Amino acid sequence: MEARLQKIISQAGIASRRAAESIILEGRVEVDGQVIRELGGKYDPELVEIRVDGKIISAPEAHVYYLLNKPKGYVSTASDERGRRTVLDLLPEIKERIYPIGRLDMNTEGLLLLTNDGELMNALLHPRYEVQKTYVARIATGLSEAALRALREGVKLEDGLTAPARVSVLETAPGRTRVEITIHEGRNRQVRRMFKAVGHEVLALKRTAFAGLSLEGVRRGEHRALTEEEIRSLYEKAGRQQG
Ligand code: URA
Repeated sequence: MEARLQKIISQAGIASRRAAESIILEGRVEVDGQVIRELGGKYDPELVEIRVDGKIISAPEAHVYYLLNKPKGYVSTASDERGRRTVLDLLPEIKERIYPIGRLDMNTEGLLLLTNDGELMNALLHPRYEVQKTYVARIATGLSEAALRALREGVKLEDGLTAPARVSVLETAPGRTRVEITIHEGRNRQVRRMFKAVGHEVLALKRTAFAGLSLEGVRRGEHRALTEEEIRSLYEKAGRQQG
């Protein structure tokens, strides 16, 4: 969170607020390598490097990126006012303040990325970049041709027509049909609502891919750090240059 420079300095325990103001006016403070002599500038100490007399008092956290295979029964917010288990409970050893990139419903499992890189997170969630997400939905009965076509071409939901989706039936057996669907929108409960709109309740839902990443090698409830190559590819997909 942003705060006034003199407040950040005094909160670092270096000086009182008044003394911090003098330190700034004396030109002893640098923010990201630039000497700052004015009072009142606001900065986020988690995003900039601040030095007093050349000594670092606050540095941006290094960015970290994880891929989690979320099990059912966890909410994908960073905290839950109802005290339910959150996906962060599955990564107890991560000390950085990470957030999920988008959400999976409590009862949806599968691939969820988590990071403290807010810029990449916002870009990947922006509709403009059409990031692909693949899900496998289990439904009770086979899909009719008409339902299949509707899912592919777009179904009318209360928040508008869905964009065309890639849909294929993976398995049809009595009482058990599995359908793979790839969408690039990220509306709330979108896959469940799309199936409902064509007359099918989703009995189980799993996200198997996101932005070209898959769950391969990551068991349910487990996570791994992304590789440099994967991070670079996410930046590309989000139309960004890695900083
Ligand atoms: N669509 C849904 O219905 N649920 C999810 O968790 C993700 C996509």
